[in-house]
Amino acid sequence: MASLFLSKFSFFPVLIIITLFFHSSHCDVLTKCRITSLFQFGDSIADAGNVIRIPGAVISAQAWGLPYGETFFHKPTGRFSDGRIIADYIASALNLPFLNPYMDKSGVSFSQGANFAVAGATAMNNSFLAERGIGFVPFNVPLPSQLEWFKSHLQSTYGSNYARTLRNSLVVMGEFGGVDYWNALAGNKPEPEVRTYVPLIIDGIMSAIKEVIQLGSTRILVPGVFPFGCLSGYLTRFPDTNPNAYDQFGCLKFYNSFATYHNTELKKALENLQCEFPRVKIVYGDYYGGFRLVFRYASWLGFNPNTLVSACCGSGGRYNTAGGCGTPSTNVCPNPSQYVNWDGLHLTDEAYHRISNVVINNMLPKFGCYGLGNSSAMSSY
Ligand SMILES: *[C@@H]1O[C@H](CO)[C@@H](O)[C@H](O)[C@H]1NC(C)=O
Ligand SMILES: *[C@@H]1O[C@H](CO)[C@@H](O)[C@H](O)[C@H]1NC(C)=O
Repeated sequence: MASLFLSKFSFFPVLIIITLFFHSSHCDVLTKCRITSLFQFGDSIADAGNVIRIPGAVISAQAWGLPYGETFFHKPTGRFSDGRIIADYIASALNLPFLNPYMDKSGVSFSQGANFAVAGATAMNNSFLAERGIGFVPFNVPLPSQLEWFKSHLQSTYGSNYARTLRNSLVVMGEFGGVDYWNALAGNKPEPEVRTYVPLIIDGIMSAIKEVIQLGSTRILVPGVFPFGCLSGYLTRFPDTNPNAYDQFGCLKFYNSFATYHNTELKKALENLQCEFPRVKIVYGDYYGGFRLVFRYASWLGFNPNTLVSACCGSGGRYNTAGGCGTPSTNVCPNPSQYVNWDGLHLTDEAYHRISNVVINNMLPKFGCYGLGNSSAMSSY
């Protein structure tokens, strides 16, 4: 009995660790999914160079300059990270190249998809935000506008054949909502009021999914939001004198439960949508769960457990986030792979890598990317 308990006990974390460490990539297995292109929507979590190409767009996180990109690309690319973002890891898992940003008009290839995500992008349109006094950037490209980009891109790139391209593609819808909530909360909107936006934001995401389905998409990944209370930007903006406001990792419980509320509502809505479109596969992307696993197994994964909630790049304050990353007074940690938080609201290449593994391992079988009963891909580990 005791040994059975022990072996079960030790087996469970090992499985989780394997999930965080690896994602299976098996070409012959993957060809079965016939995912030959990828389309990404979202905000700065997924922006791979759109916002830096929008004339006049100025954003506090200065992703057009180093140290952004220092770890992987060795130059800034417009990604809000020291290296790759989740969208890049998803592309690699599907044996696809990193997506080019839609705003790159220099003649780059879009034959295997495009990235429409823009830093600062909200789920809701500007009139919705303005009516409620929620701040937004003047160059905002909210979800409905990204959909317009998408439709015009499909026409100009694939002509009338675009539905065939979409049939063999994966659409990553989000995450969305992260910017709407941050802008409202950091702009001093009371939380109960911000909670009332959640169903509206979920509705907006559902409408967008329906639209890409009507255009011909058959596989859609819909990420939830991160545990906001573990982001150094939130921790800096909303300090709490009550030690009970923080969990064992130093995250603000209140903002994590807000994120959980959004994610729970999102999952429910996705289940309903899945029933409505049984021939399309809609999968929830558990960014929240992946992030929490990274914190729980931080030292096993090579992260410094003492700086989990501190930004690698920033300046000053308890979380190195009092000033932004890329300002003259910035200090950058020498070892970004030991940090989860990169600049306050975005994560490091390594954190995105581990979270991606969780999301990819969950997503591939659901999209039919392993033959059922064929353990070849998994047994190679
Ligand atoms: C903005 O969004 C709201 C809520 O989704 C919608 O009712 C409204 O028609 C939209 N306005 C514009 C100008 O698109
Ligand atoms: C499992 O893999 C083998 C070898 O690649 C293949 O011949 C077989 O058809 C696969 N079975 C299923 C159920 O996909």
